[in-house]
Amino acid sequence: MNKEKNILILGIESSCDDTSASVIKNGFLLSNIIAGQKVHESYGGVVPELASRAHQQNIIPVVDQAIKQAGVTTADITAIAFTRGPGLLGSLLVGTSFAKGFSLAMGIPMIEINHLQAHVLAHFIQEYDQPYDPPTFPFLCLLVSGGNSQIIKVNDYLDMEVIGQTIDDAAGEAFDKCAKVMGLPYPGGPFVDKLAKEGNPDAFQFAKPRVANFDYSFSGLKTSFLYFLRDRLKENENFIEERKADLCASLQKTIIDILLDKLIKAAKETGIREITVAGGVSANSGLRNALMEMAVKYRWKMHIPKFAFTTDNAAMIAMTGHFKYLKGEFIGMDAVPFARMDIRV
Ligand code: KG4
Repeated sequence: MNKEKNILILGIESSCDDTSASVIKNGFLLSNIIAGQKVHESYGGVVPELASRAHQQNIIPVVDQAIKQAGVTTADITAIAFTRGPGLLGSLLVGTSFAKGFSLAMGIPMIEINHLQAHVLAHFIQEYDQPYDPPTFPFLCLLVSGGNSQIIKVNDYLDMEVIGQTIDDAAGEAFDKCAKVMGLPYPGGPFVDKLAKEGNPDAFQFAKPRVANFDYSFSGLKTSFLYFLRDRLKENENFIEERKADLCASLQKTIIDILLDKLIKAAKETGIREITVAGGVSANSGLRNALMEMAVKYRWKMHIPKFAFTTDNAAMIAMTGHFKYLKGEFIGMDAVPFARMDIRV
């Protein structure tokens, strides 16, 4: 293979509880392998210590599989891109150390990636034999995951500004924490989504926050949901079981309303109608439907990524690595991961 002509980026993602590796060739996806970690399920949340150990176990087999599935060899890789942050420090250290070892062994450059920036750039992953209709700049991205709820103004591939964000919990946390109160497994978001399909979204009303500008708040909703259940359970101990679908549908509707209120405001005030969504919560079917409705109502051009690219994955890391490679943005061997990291980095 001719290294002069082809840019092959190996992407490594290990920020939370998914170990993932991907190969992208000239912007086209060749492989995207993701190993989840079941070990956290019985704890009702990610246990950082266990996550880093599982990454340590998974990283070599996952990279090996990604390279094999891509039909290339390690010698073909042009550069290695890794998630530097934000995330769990112990988890990030595994990916960072692997990237350093690989970079040294192969004599190729290393590219640091901001995980949040990568979520936004997941929209630019190209797949062979698949339609490609990426957003045009500037666009707004509603980034909603287990750790973030932000509205990002994207001026260019590597030029982004956060114009609104949560002041407390993330939308994914609201799903997961309320799901836990109802006795649903972790992470609860997908279970709420599934049950909500059989429930009445107007059955119950929960408190919506009053927050300035384009910012979000979800901790009040969690408390309101908890007190509501506590009161109802005093009257009927089977309340949750009997009304689970209605509870899920009403909770989901409230979260979606909160997210969309600010997104609509941001679109109006910036005059931007090119809208995208990213992060784990963007897998929510109710949110996807509501966004499509808003797109018709407000004449937005809406971009919703494939499920595989919404949750944590290394394809988005490799894709962002591709753009940084084109700009010659490399990092040295003294790179350390960051638990917190601004999207501009
Ligand atoms: O981006 P992501 O994979 O990773 C982290 O933020 O770490 O997002 C995970 C979050 C979890 O809170 C999960 O409950 C939520 O995304 N999630 C969903 C759905 N699928 C995943 N929330 C609502 N509906 C879904 N279908």
